[in-house]
Amino acid sequence: MATALCPGSFDPVTLGHLDIIERSAKLFDHVIVAVIRNPQKSSSLFTIEERHELLASVTSHLPNVSLDTFSGLLVDFAKDRGATAIVKGLRAISDFDYELQMAQMNQRLSGIDTLFISTSPQHSFLSSSLVKEVARFGGDVTGMVPPAIADRLVARFNEPARKDSGD
Ligand code: PNS
Repeated sequence: MATALCPGSFDPVTLGHLDIIERSAKLFDHVIVAVIRNPQKSSSLFTIEERHELLASVTSHLPNVSLDTFSGLLVDFAKDRGATAIVKGLRAISDFDYELQMAQMNQRLSGIDTLFISTSPQHSFLSSSLVKEVARFGGDVTGMVPPAIADRLVARFNEPARKDSGD
């Protein structure tokens, strides 16, 4: 059985992520969406439990997709779970340098290859960071994230503590 990992911060999951997860699920017997516990990128908007819960709500229609969390090296997690491939979405040439470097490092460390799926054009401008920025200032993120995630973003940025702190 071929198992692949789709790793990321998913803070929060976007329609671009979901597209890659759905297409990976057609290529592999089993796909593990691996949510990093402590993203390198500053502080996360959603806790690990929230990011996991949001992902679960939007991947429930995919029977061969499961969710897990990890910390430390991705390749150690991949070996532990018996994954033989890492799948990443490539949006644009700007993603390429860093993704290639990570793929080569992961290959060097473990022998596990990374497969790149080209992002669907309608999602190529999407990132969790930009979606958060738009939502933070009251912009409409419809069509960028699943509807349930859009609601959670609006709710999060309307929490009094966030309004007061400007965070
Ligand atoms: O959604 P992101 O933030 O782009 O995901 C990045 C992620 C989690 C895939 C990457 O930071 C990662 O794999 N981190 C785990 C630590 C690790 O293995 N580092 C060495 C990679 S060469």
